[in-house]
Amino acid sequence: MNIFSATEENITKAAELLRSSGVVAMPTETVYGLAANVYDSKAVANIFAIKGRPTFNPLISHIAEVDFLKEYAAVDSRVLELAKKYWPGPLTFVLKRTDENPALDLVCAGLKTITVRMPNHPVALDLIKKAGVPLAAPSANASQTMSPTTAEHVYESLQDKVDMILDGGACRVGVESTIIDMTGKEVVMLRAGGVSLEELETFLSEKVLISDGNPDKPTSPGQLLKHYAPHHTFRINADKPEKGEFYIGFGDCQNANLNLSPSGNLCEAASNLFSYLHLADKHPNITGIAMAPIPNKEIGMAINDRIKRAAKK
Ligand code: TXA
Ligand code: MG
Repeated sequence: MNIFSATEENITKAAELLRSSGVVAMPTETVYGLAANVYDSKAVANIFAIKGRPTFNPLISHIAEVDFLKEYAAVDSRVLELAKKYWPGPLTFVLKRTDENPALDLVCAGLKTITVRMPNHPVALDLIKKAGVPLAAPSANASQTMSPTTAEHVYESLQDKVDMILDGGACRVGVESTIIDMTGKEVVMLRAGGVSLEELETFLSEKVLISDGNPDKPTSPGQLLKHYAPHHTFRINADKPEKGEFYIGFGDCQNANLNLSPSGNLCEAASNLFSYLHLADKHPNITGIAMAPIPNKEIGMAINDRIKRAAKK
């Protein structure tokens, strides 16, 4: 088993692996990431191979210091203000790439943009600092399957294809970061996530556009319609289960096998989402999975985005 508890010693070992072309799964506050040195094309190519991810789908670079941004990408005061407010945290920027190092071409999938965030997790931050380079890290699961929020989920999906899985416990936020495109005049949200649209609009005092998300021509390739899928059929907005279905509830509801948040708290629901879907999917003798309606506001937007894709046949 390649799961190691995230002790100082093991983080140091993981950083050494990263400096010698290894691939390491690390905890972040959103989901577990599959990390490699952004400047090591061989290691980055390995991420795509391990996940079975198409190479046209770019990766997020994870950094530990805001100052690094300036070497990497074009930043203006609006980006820096957002970074000051939300970093470290679940907010990712798509920026114009200024670092022309060809080693980055694979991370950027040949685009002229680069995508960056600073994760709010002590293990991830320590690992980035010890590795001494930004870390490319998509979610640590096979492409199109559900995102991992525990070290065990990573192992179930990728087994020994990963050099090391650092176990930092369950992820607090539970859904991926919000991605905003900062390359134009207007801010465009490409993926709903840990920081809500409402919060961003309030902070910026401006309207944030939502990418139209044409599934055939995604601006954010991870917005492909089928994504995050469990093996079982999955029904959403279900007021009650049908015979044989595993029912995941929300708020005050009867007949639930599991409840994302009995008190109707959306943050709690987000942090349980992928864990409960993983549990439901492993449950023996069920005919499918059904989920109660989730209010489409705040982090509920991210939940609805993920389950809509998961339910797609
Ligand atoms: O919370 C997160 O963001 C997690 C943790 C590990 O940090 N990472 C994550 O990475 O969710 P990934 O690769 O599963 O999702 C990144 C998304 C993909 O949908 C990708 O298409 C999009 O970001 N993306 C990356 N670079 C982009 C770019 N330059 N333009 C548009 N979309 C981009
Ligand atoms: Mg992913």
